[in-house]
Amino acid sequence: MRKTPMIVLLWIAVLIVWGVGYYAYNIGKPLLGGDSRTAPEVNVSSAGGEGGSGINGKTVFNAQCAACHQANGQGVPGAFPPLAGSKWVVAARDIPIAIVHDGLQGPVEVKGQTYEGMMPAFKGTLSNDEIAAVLSYIRQEWGNQAEPITGAQVEEHQAGVGERGPWSADELKETYQAP
Ligand code: HEC
Repeated sequence: MRKTPMIVLLWIAVLIVWGVGYYAYNIGKPLLGGDSRTAPEVNVSSAGGEGGSGINGKTVFNAQCAACHQANGQGVPGAFPPLAGSKWVVAARDIPIAIVHDGLQGPVEVKGQTYEGMMPAFKGTLSNDEIAAVLSYIRQEWGNQAEPITGAQVEEHQAGVGERGPWSADELKETYQAP
C-alpha cells in the first residue's frame, strides 16, 4: 500500500481545525441560521382569551391570518386588506363572524381602497371558540375598539346561515346592514 501523501494529511488537518474552530467560535452565540426568524411572541394576557374558552386569539391570528393580513394588521396594499382601522372588523358582530366563518369574495372597500380577492372560510379549519378568540383579538388590537365575540355567538351564526359559501360585500350589506 502506498503512503498517504503529506498534502492530503495536511488538508485533513486544516479542515479539522477549521471545523472545530468554527464550532468553538460560535459557542454561546444565538443561532442565526436559516431565515433568522424567531418564535412568535405569545401574549398570554391578550384580550383574545375572552369568551371563557381560554384560547389565545393572538396565537390563532399569527398562525392563521398574519400570512395575508400581516402581524401588524396592515395587510398588503393591492392584495390583502388591512384589519387595523377596518370598519368591517368592528361592525355588528355578525359581519366579522360571517367573513371569517364563511369567507368573503368579490369587491370590498376597506379604508378607501377596493380589494377584489378571496378570503378563505375558516369554519372547517378553526373551531367556533377559535374563531371567537381571533375575532375578539382583531376587534381590540391596533387601536380597534369593539366588544369581544364568544363561541356561542359564532355557533348562533352557524345555526342561522347553515352550510353556505363565501359572502360578497353587497350580500353582507343587505343581510346585516353592513357598514
Ligand atoms: C389567504 C389569505 C388570507 C388569509 C389567510 C386570511 N384572509 Fe382575511 N381576507 C383576505 C382577502 C383577500 C380579503 C378580501 C376579500 C375580498 O376581496 O372580497 C380578506 C378580508 C378580510 C376581512 C374583511 C375586510 C377587512 O380588511 O376588514 C376580515 C375582517 C378578514 N379578512 C379577517 C381575517 C381573519 C381574522 C383571518 C384569520 C382567521 C383571515 N382574514 C385570514 C385574505 C386572507
